[in-house]
Amino acid sequence: MFSINENYLKLPGSYLFSTIAKKVAAYQSENPEAKVIRLGIGDVTLPLAPAVIKALHGAVDEMGAAETFKGYAPDLGYEFLRSTIAENDYRARGVQIDIDEIFVSDGAKSDSGNIGDIFGQNNKIAVCDPVYPVYVDTNVMAGRSGLYDPDRGLFDGIIYMPCTAENNFIPELPAEKPDIIYLCFPNNPTGTTIPKAELQKWVDYALQIGALIIYDAAYEAYIAEDDVAHTIYECEGAKKCAIELRSFSKNAGFTGTRLGFTVVPKDLKCGDVSLNSLWARRHGTKFNGAPYIVQAAGAAVYSEEGKKQTKEQIAYYMNNAKVIREGLADAGFEVYGGVNAPYIWMKTPQGMSSWDFFDYLLGKVQVVGTPGSGFGPHGEGYFRLTAFGSAQSTLEAVGRIRNL
Ligand SMILES: Cc1ncc(COP(=O)(O)O)c(C=O)c1O
Repeated sequence: MFSINENYLKLPGSYLFSTIAKKVAAYQSENPEAKVIRLGIGDVTLPLAPAVIKALHGAVDEMGAAETFKGYAPDLGYEFLRSTIAENDYRARGVQIDIDEIFVSDGAKSDSGNIGDIFGQNNKIAVCDPVYPVYVDTNVMAGRSGLYDPDRGLFDGIIYMPCTAENNFIPELPAEKPDIIYLCFPNNPTGTTIPKAELQKWVDYALQIGALIIYDAAYEAYIAEDDVAHTIYECEGAKKCAIELRSFSKNAGFTGTRLGFTVVPKDLKCGDVSLNSLWARRHGTKFNGAPYIVQAAGAAVYSEEGKKQTKEQIAYYMNNAKVIREGLADAGFEVYGGVNAPYIWMKTPQGMSSWDFFDYLLGKVQVVGTPGSGFGPHGEGYFRLTAFGSAQSTLEAVGRIRNL
């Protein structure tokens, strides 16, 4: 008789985006004339850049000719892509990362979930609250938590680090010692980030207590301010305590194309054991490589044209962020984020709950956002708007909210 991984039974249903979709569908069917503007889901809307499309077409043609056809990709990713990443994302920022420290994948969601495979079950996990839910759920699946406490909205056995307006959405070092710390900057959902000097404190702390940091830099391309690190390896000592996750989803619109990478430095050790070797073993065993076509498209993101075109896309989204941020602040709302990230985290007015504000906004002005409580208990009383809509609908949404 087989048995199941009972840890899965600890997970409450993830109702956030399906509840939003159901509420919007119900509203739309009752009000077929209403023009609903969706600033809820964190998915890009601009088409792939011309340089990326050109590379995709070229790679498709290569796959159609016997001389240039490619089968399985190398486990770690094609060298042409890994060397381009090492040069542009690291060496250009004064950070030396070898190409065999870079593992190409199909995206940061898979990597942030899969990385747990190489860690023991007894590790104590620390996450921010609010948080990108994948870090928590995948650790629950792996047995690194107790039961879900519906009253607190938290899992027992996980350290939650509140991120609130009072601490500028930067977690404080936890009272209880963690083994693995998940950090994500610029942050989803709060849209805020951490100055390099503050990040250095986390690196120093991890080195001091022997913890590992899993650093999710999926939104690195949105960093606009000078004192923000583009990679955790800009911090001294980080190669000895941090794994970095990166994605092509938000910098180049690959959400539907799928490409990312993880950096596991060779200096990263648990006793005598190299995490780089463990991850190479795991990656090579369970993953058969991102498609050649997609890796070719990824390399085109770093071409002169690709850089210019993707920068323009980011500028477009960040102009939306500015419109939301300044428009709502001007109307008297308390808003955060949107300077180094495509998310705006607004305080709900008059102490409304996140879901009440969702219903209110949909009913009154037909604008959809994401209730902050869906990201953790400290998200209650907040609401996330994204900058990924069109410039026109963003402007209209802000106008509608201002006129509430
Ligand atoms: C913080 C964070 N990490 C990772 C991801 C997933 O990235 P990918 O599309 O590369 O899987 C997202 C997507 O929204 C995210 O917000």
